[in-house]
Amino acid sequence: MNIEKLKAIETEVITAINEVNTLDELSGVFNKYLAKKGLVSSLGVHMKDLEPSERATFGKALNELRKNVNETYEAKKLALEEIALNKQLKSETIDLSLPGVNYLPGGRNPFYLIKDEIEAIFIALGYSVEEGPEVESDHYNFELLNIPKDHPAREMQDSFYFDEQYLLRTHTSPVQARVMQAAKGKPIKIICPGKVYRRDADDMTHSHQFAQVEGLVIDKNINLAHLYSALDIFVKAMFGEKREIRFRPSYFPFTEPSIEVDVSCFECSGSGCSVCKQTGWIEILGGGMVHPDVLAMNGYDPDSYSGFAFGIGIERVAMLRYGIDDIRKIYQNDIRFLSQFRKQD
Ligand code: DAH
Repeated sequence: MNIEKLKAIETEVITAINEVNTLDELSGVFNKYLAKKGLVSSLGVHMKDLEPSERATFGKALNELRKNVNETYEAKKLALEEIALNKQLKSETIDLSLPGVNYLPGGRNPFYLIKDEIEAIFIALGYSVEEGPEVESDHYNFELLNIPKDHPAREMQDSFYFDEQYLLRTHTSPVQARVMQAAKGKPIKIICPGKVYRRDADDMTHSHQFAQVEGLVIDKNINLAHLYSALDIFVKAMFGEKREIRFRPSYFPFTEPSIEVDVSCFECSGSGCSVCKQTGWIEILGGGMVHPDVLAMNGYDPDSYSGFAFGIGIERVAMLRYGIDDIRKIYQNDIRFLSQFRKQD
């Protein structure tokens, strides 16, 4: 081993370092020459074979070699690390100018907005909310409401029958009978929202399935003025303080007297327009005083108790309130329709 050989080794190692292109290749070079058992590290062993006079020069040259090789190695390592980092940064770049993934925030169906609002109005008046079965017996749906087998009122509520006895309820009124029987003669103040079914042909204003809110109040000395007051409060809360209601005589087998309720037109305030068909009034719901026979059939003495009842069509209220012209829009789940009811906040 001599100085020339050292120079040759230095050139070999530096060339090897300079020729690599990746950190992996560089670590191969490191292992071969610079690691503990690599060629450069083992050069020191030759010191002992040298004349003492030569050792100093050789030692100096060896240190020089180590310094040069290490510097070259460190510089190459830094350069390759920078290249690798830049490559990684480039591959992970996010283009902030790209549009994000779009999603549609949900909106509540106006049906449920109105259902909740009706419930809130009556809950504030002290009513509790009841439920009843949608598969109902003929007995509850008709008989207990004073609509016996051959009664012509059955014509208007043709239904979907399962058999002679069971059908999809045609109105929420059977819940009146159920609640009365459960209350066993005690005062009652309830509403019952729910789905009802009729064998109607579907068109702009009819659907084979729709929903009602039934109301029932029973106590001593309940009269028509109480019904008027409850519905007046309801209509003003739903359609505005300026709205008036009027009662028209009507007929339902389970109420006596029976009334139909109109609300003064919120579109023209009574002067006449297409919404109110030029009458100034819009028909909105039915009601009346609970028929004495219905009270008696369901466990109340009509001589000491009286009550009122009403039935509100939820879709009808929603259509009037929001100016919806076709009931089917409420069920079709069309985003263009539903998004109009999305909360703006
Ligand atoms: N059940 C009736 C219907 O579906 C609506 C109704 C009218 C309910 C008068 C009532 C009432 O409670 O008193 O057409």
